[in-house]
Amino acid sequence: MYKRLRPWLLRLPPEAAHKMALMTIRLRGALWYPPRPPEWRLPVTALGLEFPHPLGLAAGFDKDGQALTGLAALGFGFLEVGTVTPRAQPGNPRPRLFRLPAEGALINRMGFNNQGLETLVNRLHGHRHTIPIGVNIGKNRDTPLARAVDDYRLAFAAVVPYADYIAVNLSSPNTPGLRTLQEPETAMALLGALKEDQRTLARSIGRRVPLAVKIAPDFSDEALDALIQVIRATECDAVIATNTTVTRPVAGLSATTKEQGGLSGAPLAPLTKRVISRLFAGLGGIPIIGVGGIRDAQSAWDHLVAGASLLQIYTGLIYEGPGLLETIIKGLYVHIQETGCDDLACALQAARRNLSSGIEPNTIKFQ
Ligand SMILES: Cc1cc2nc3c(=O)[nH]c(=O)nc-3n(C[C@H](O)[C@H](O)[C@H](O)COP(=O)(O)O)c2cc1C
Repeated sequence: MYKRLRPWLLRLPPEAAHKMALMTIRLRGALWYPPRPPEWRLPVTALGLEFPHPLGLAAGFDKDGQALTGLAALGFGFLEVGTVTPRAQPGNPRPRLFRLPAEGALINRMGFNNQGLETLVNRLHGHRHTIPIGVNIGKNRDTPLARAVDDYRLAFAAVVPYADYIAVNLSSPNTPGLRTLQEPETAMALLGALKEDQRTLARSIGRRVPLAVKIAPDFSDEALDALIQVIRATECDAVIATNTTVTRPVAGLSATTKEQGGLSGAPLAPLTKRVISRLFAGLGGIPIIGVGGIRDAQSAWDHLVAGASLLQIYTGLIYEGPGLLETIIKGLYVHIQETGCDDLACALQAARRNLSSGIEPNTIKFQ
C-alpha cells in the first residue's frame, strides 16, 4: 500500500506529506474497528516497563498525540509524543523540512511547533494505553534560557500522570541555545530539579515515572564523558541517543544540505552508534534508547549491539513506510537465531561478548 502511495507522497512538499500521513494513521485509529496490531513478541523489560518489542516511534512524528491508536495499530512497541512546550507555539517559518532522498536523510528546523501542554494532556487523558507512551518535554522559544528549568518542571508536572516515561529534550538544534543545557553545570541543576520533582510527584500519583534525557550526537569524547558523569550523579533512568546532527556527514554539499537545521536518517547512524557505544561503556547499566539512522534490520541490530536496550525510528519510516517495522522485527528474529538464543537479551549478551573479543556478531554461528 505505502509502496504505491510513496511516489505521490514524495511529490508533495515534505511537511504536507507528513500531515497527510499522520491524518491517515489517525483516521485508521478512529475506525469503529481499528486494525489490530501485529502480534510480534520480542519482549523487553526496561525502565521498569514491559515492551512487546524494542522498536518505538521517535519524538516529533506525532508531537501533539493526535494519532496514538492508529500508531499503536501499526505495531510499534512504544510511542514517544512531543516535544511539547508549556504554551502552544507555531515553530519556525516554512519551509523548515527538507528531503535528501539520495542520502535517505532529512533536514529539519521545525522549532518545536506544537499545540501546547493543555491540548496534549487532554488527548493523553482520553487515551487507553496498550503500549508504553513516553512524553518528550521542552521549553518555549520565548522563555529565557536562564528560566528554562521552569518550563521543564511545569511540563513534567502536567504530563506525569499520563506518561509511562518522560523524555527531557536538551538536544534540539532548532531552539536557540537549547543544546547549551547539556553543559555539565546546567544539566546538573536541571536534571537534579526534575529528579526531585519525580520523587515528590511519585508520592501524589502513587507511581514513579522514569525520566530519560535525550542528547545530541555532536559531542567531543570529553564533553560526552562529562555529561555521562552528570547523568550518573543525578540518577537519570535512561538516555535517549540521539537527536539530529548539526554536522553534515554527507558527500558533497548541495543547496539542500546547506539548509540550517538538524540532519536525521541514514548518514546519522554512525554518529549515533558512536555515542551509544560510549554511553554503554560509561553509564554503568543505565538503559539507552538508540535512535538515529535506523533504516533496516542491520542498522537496528547495530545500535542494539552497541548498547541500546530499546530503539526508535523516524526518518526511516518516511522513506520506507510502516512496512519497515515488520522488516526490522523479522530481521531481529534472524539475528537472535544466529546467536543460538531464544530471546533478545541473551542474543545481545552473546553479540556484545563477540564484539568485545573482535568477532563480528552476525558472522559467527552458535551450535
Ligand atoms: C521533522 C522532525 C521533527 C522532529 N522533532 C523532534 C522533536 O520535537 N523532539 C525530539 O526530541 N526530536 C525530534 N526529532 C528527532 C527524532 O526524534 C530523532 O531523534 C532523529 O530524527 C534521529 O532519528 P532518525 O534518523 O530515525 O530520524 C525530529 C526529527 C524530525 C525529522
